[in-house]
Order: sequence, then C-alpha cells, then structure tokens
Amino acid sequence: MSKTATLEIDGNRYEFPIIEGTENELGIDIKALRGVTNGVTTIDPGYKNTGSCESAITFLDGEKGILRYRGYSIEELAEKADFLEVAYLLIFGELPTAVQLEKFDKDIKEESHVDEDMKKILDGFPKSAHPMGVLSSLTSALIAFNPGSVDVDSEEEMYNAIVKILAKFPVLAAWTMRKRKSLPLDYGDSSLGYVENLHKMMFARPNKTYEPNKLVYDALDKLLILHADHEQNCSTSTVRIVGSSHAGLFASLSAGISALWGPLHGGANQAVIEMLEAIKADGGDTAKYINKAKDKNDPFRLMGFGHRVYKNFDPRAKIIKKSAEEVLGDLGIEDPVLDIAKGLSSVALEDEYFVQRKLYPNVDFYSGIIYRALGIPTEMFTVMFALGRLPGWIAQWREMRLRKEPIGRPRQIYIGENHRTFKTVSER
Ligand code: ACO
Repeated sequence: MSKTATLEIDGNRYEFPIIEGTENELGIDIKALRGVTNGVTTIDPGYKNTGSCESAITFLDGEKGILRYRGYSIEELAEKADFLEVAYLLIFGELPTAVQLEKFDKDIKEESHVDEDMKKILDGFPKSAHPMGVLSSLTSALIAFNPGSVDVDSEEEMYNAIVKILAKFPVLAAWTMRKRKSLPLDYGDSSLGYVENLHKMMFARPNKTYEPNKLVYDALDKLLILHADHEQNCSTSTVRIVGSSHAGLFASLSAGISALWGPLHGGANQAVIEMLEAIKADGGDTAKYINKAKDKNDPFRLMGFGHRVYKNFDPRAKIIKKSAEEVLGDLGIEDPVLDIAKGLSSVALEDEYFVQRKLYPNVDFYSGIIYRALGIPTEMFTVMFALGRLPGWIAQWREMRLRKEPIGRPRQIYIGENHRTFKTVSER
C-alpha cells in the first residue's frame, strides 16, 4: 500500500503522497501543498530537510558512511577504475565498454585545445588573482568561443558539448597555475592519458625534460575519482538551478565553480592546510585549537571536520587518509603537517563536543596533504577539486535537463515592513 503523510493546519487535514527511493529513502511529496492549502509554504533555510530532485546518479547514506556512484561503491571505484571511466559512468549511467571508452578518450583528445584568444583574457588577470576566480571566468568565457546553445534533445549535441568541456577544462585549470608561476601556456600532449596529460600541462617546464611518474598519476587519479560527485551539495545544486533556467552547460558550470570556492565547501581543502600550518607555526599545540573550535565565542572552526550529510566517517576521508600515508611514504616525504592532522583528528574523535555533534573528518581533511606532496600549490587545491567534480556537475546538469525539470525558484516567508506610503526626501 502506498504511504501518505497527513498535515493538519487550523483543523483542516491534508494528505500528501510519500515517495520511496530505490534505497528505501522516504520523501513527502508536497508539490500540491500551496494549491490545496491556499498558499501555505514550507521553510527550510539551507535545505536541511528538503529534497530538490529525484536523481539516479549518486547514493549516499550519511549515517552509515556509504557513497556510491550509479550503484558502485566509492571504495571499489577508487581501487579499480580510472577517472575517465568514472566520468563516463557518472554522466551516461553505465561503465563504458572498451570501444566506448576508447572513443570517449579519442573525442576528448580531439577537443583538447582552446581558442588562442582565450590567452588574452587570461592575460587580463593580475598574477595574484585566485585561481578559482580565474577558472570560473575562463569557463564562462568559453561560451563566447562556443556560442551554439545545446539542443538537449539531441544526444549528439549533448555528447559533443560534454566532450568539449571535459577536454578544455584541464587546459584552463593548468593555465591558471602556469599564469601564477609565469610559465608559458601549454596544450599538453594528446598521446598521454587524461590525468597524465593534466599533470604534464601543470608541471612541464620549458627548459627541463618532463619526467612521468606513475605513483603521482595514480594518487591524482584516485583523488579526482573521490571528488567526482556528491549528490545535491552546494555547487551541484548551483549548477542544476542555473541550468534550470536553460542557461547553457558552460555558464552553469562556471556558477558551480564559484559556489565550490567558498571555505565551507570546496575551499575547505585550502583552509585545512592553512589551519595546519598555523598550528605548526604556533608550536603544534593541537589541544589549544580543539578548545578554540569548541568555544562558541571564538569564530574558529576545525576546518575539514563536519559535514552536512555525513554523521559518520566520510568514506572518502578514510581512503584519502590511507592514500596520504602511502603517497608520502612512497615519495619519501616527511610532512609534520600530516602528524598534526592525525593528532587533531584522534583528539577530536574522542572529544565529547565532536562526538555529540557527530563531527568526523571530511574529504578535505587529508586531500591537501597529498596535493602538497605532489607539489601542487595551496591556492590550486580547490581547482583540483573542481577538476574532479566536473563529471558530477555535468551528469547532474544532463539529468536535470533530460528530466525536463522546471526552473528552480524557491518560495520565502516575507518578514519585512507592511505596506507604507512613500515620503519625499524633504519629508524624511
Ligand atoms: N568545528 C567546530 N564545530 C563545528 C564544526 C567544525 N568544523 N562543524 C560544525 N560544528 C558545530 C557547530 O558549531 C554546531 O554546533 P551547535 O549545535 O552547538 O551550534 C554543530 O556542530 C552543527 O553545525 P552546523 O554548522 O549547523 O552544521 P552544517 O551541516 O550546517 O554545516 C559544515 C556543515 C558547513 C561542513 C560545517 O561542519 C563546517 O563548517 N565545517 C568546516 C568546513 C569544512 O570542512 N567544509 C567542507 C565540507 S565537505 C565539502 O564541502 C567537500
């Protein structure tokens, strides 16, 4: 029998259907609420209890610490798949066959150049500009060089737009770093794989032979996979809502990059390293910072801790912690900041304040330590996150358009002045 929920307002009872997801999640379908109640709405700032869509892409259970892309566990994908396969899986719903993967790879390589005039736009930014701001602007600028809007009913057009952005985005991301370092802009090498090419575009020097390093590639590949999607988070919801006005894919992605930049979202990976460095410079006293985080009169928060959805260990953090230890070990790097991170996390995991609020390390707590070991500058950390999240944003945008979702337009409860009459300046 189908389930329903009953709501009573001023003695009137209303019934609403309950929909059930494939993992038995229940949601009260309030689509008819305003109509049947004559204008009553719901209020849920930050959407802590509000489902914005039905989606078949990513499942996560924050209580149990489960994350799956299209049904495959993140642990298995991180171990066995490569980033391009995961991108294909997220976007098109199934793991690619060998033929599909080869074509996908070839099509991306075919598009992995950007218009030379994009360099003039990049040139206009000061070197000090944050790479996330530059990346968002350059992604938006791509629209000017690819003006045709995508006919989402045409599978071919959709595919071409997706391949284009997957190809050009790493070039733009690498350029933001090269610009800051005053290195010549590079188009990479299409004989290399996606992640290898990204690394070469970021690190190749004009006067030095580029040395490939499988260890580094594997670590990077894993990090990108772990960041590839996370259902309706802040940046993904932004991409979906911007796209719901039928703004194009590149415009929607550019908005998503801006949303990701904030320190409460993707910007946390940069904030974590800055915090760990500050603790190190202050003598490594982790207890002092745990106390600061607990003090309600102190704005300090333990960056990389807590999550809107995970009330258990973030499964990605578990994989990244292990990977951070391996990468540092394999590369022979000793980073005191890793010890501070481990110390902070072991104290916090035992502390009443964190235990009660179910605050666990999130994906960003350890990722910065690996990025640092790979020689990636701190201000590029969130760009690395964006590179990983790109297939997720694309998949969510595509799903939203294919499901013909209506334009996103929340309601509000007005709490301002009631009607009043205008006074001229001399009357005020
Ligand atoms: N340090 C100290 N206290 C914290 C932290 C933290 N990192 N996170 C949450 N709390 C406390 C809050 O003060 C609040 O306490 P209270 O109930 O006594 O008022 C309680 O835990 C609940 O916190 P909220 O802010 O209400 O939780 P919300 O779900 O809104 O926020 C968020 C989640 C933004 C991730 C938060 O935990 C945070 O700011 N973390 C640090 C930033 C961070 O690491 N962000 C990355 C998230 S992962 C990602 O985006 C990829």
